[in-house]
Amino acid sequence: MNPYNTYRYKKNKLFVEGVSLDEIAVKTGTPVYVYSGEKIMSQYRRFDRSFCKCPHLICYAVKASSNLSILRLLAKNGAGADIVSIGELFRARRAGVLPERIVFSGVGKTEDEIGVAIKANVLMMNVESREELEAIHKVAQLLRRPAAVSIRVNPDVSADTHHHITTGKAENKFGIPYGEAEDLYRYALKMPWIRIVGIQAHIGSQILNVRPYQKTLEKLLKLVDRLEKAGIFLQFLDMGGGLGVSYDGEKSLDPADLSKALLPLMKGRRLCLIFEPGRFLTAEAGCMITKVLYRKEYKHKNFVIVDAAMNDLARPGLYDAYHPIWPVRRNSSSRYKADVVGPVCETGDYLAKARGMARPQPGDYLSVMAAGAYGFSMSSQYNSRTRVPEVLVMGKKWWVVRERESVNDLIRGEKIPEFLK
Ligand code: LLP
Repeated sequence: MNPYNTYRYKKNKLFVEGVSLDEIAVKTGTPVYVYSGEKIMSQYRRFDRSFCKCPHLICYAVKASSNLSILRLLAKNGAGADIVSIGELFRARRAGVLPERIVFSGVGKTEDEIGVAIKANVLMMNVESREELEAIHKVAQLLRRPAAVSIRVNPDVSADTHHHITTGKAENKFGIPYGEAEDLYRYALKMPWIRIVGIQAHIGSQILNVRPYQKTLEKLLKLVDRLEKAGIFLQFLDMGGGLGVSYDGEKSLDPADLSKALLPLMKGRRLCLIFEPGRFLTAEAGCMITKVLYRKEYKHKNFVIVDAAMNDLARPGLYDAYHPIWPVRRNSSSRYKADVVGPVCETGDYLAKARGMARPQPGDYLSVMAAGAYGFSMSSQYNSRTRVPEVLVMGKKWWVVRERESVNDLIRGEKIPEFLK
């Protein structure tokens, strides 16, 4: 079964919705990121429908893929945003996300950022430490505007995912240890410029089963009960993001299953559930098209050298992540195994290792699949490579929603001091 059913072969040419990837690659050049708007919307609506029986808000984790058009598409469908910097707040607001649907996460918010967020009237800031709470209080007092906060609790639950993307274990830097959270709430209660509105946990990313979420919710609700006894009443319970998708044939986490596992626990409670999905909404919607430059074929090993590199898609090199690679035009060439590598001068610059594939010809286009989350948003200009364009597809139409950078973009803001002139 093709897990990315938005991407389909028609007469051996790969299409996204009604547009051939070949057409996009020829017109924009490569590498290029392409996103299916329909897929992003259908993932959002699936999530939204699954929780329709409970008050809820879906705040898209902007870091997954932060192009303004993607944010706008989601905002138009009712999504909020989960942001971790003022840059992300700027993007979300520019795309029309309502401030009352924005939650501000992250362990290291600066006082400047806190001030901007308070002035913007975001729904809440997720507090990650006592010192951060004090900083928020100080800024709120200076501005004479109360700050709405929730406390991010570290529930010490294993998310059973890659160690780089697990966040809810006691040894991770995130959140307040479960056993200490109640004290921090009591401390916050005494702060005149702090408005306590919620509780949050985010246990990791690429989670494929509902059990860790269930355990987390059980623990959070026990805490909510204790807080109520202390006279602290919350409005929002934020379960974070983390829903896993299909990269290598895994079954993605179905939000309907998540809702079946969580909603019974919410019965009789008047809390609004918040989720912060990133990957679930955009990963499978996106691909990156790259062109084959050269082949190096030896007795012991084959390499396919393409024009995209680790600076364009960091996940394989960084996490050893698997992304399927499909030919943009299918042909009947023989199959072999090869490492698919980019032009950057590092051994870690690869898109795939020992990958079974149809032997490509120089000039062929390949599509790196499931690259719509943490793809472009983690790209860099390493090796002074310009960042690639992004394209949004809707039905039979497509738009360049971010232009390819020019070499002038590479040196923007740089100056040669007088003494060197
Ligand atoms: N909320 C918070 C507080 C987060 O830290 C994250 C992701 C999310 C929501 C969204 O998680 P998602 O639904 O996308 O799993 N670069 C890595 C993933 C890092 C995730 C960081 N935090 C990767 O490429 O796999």
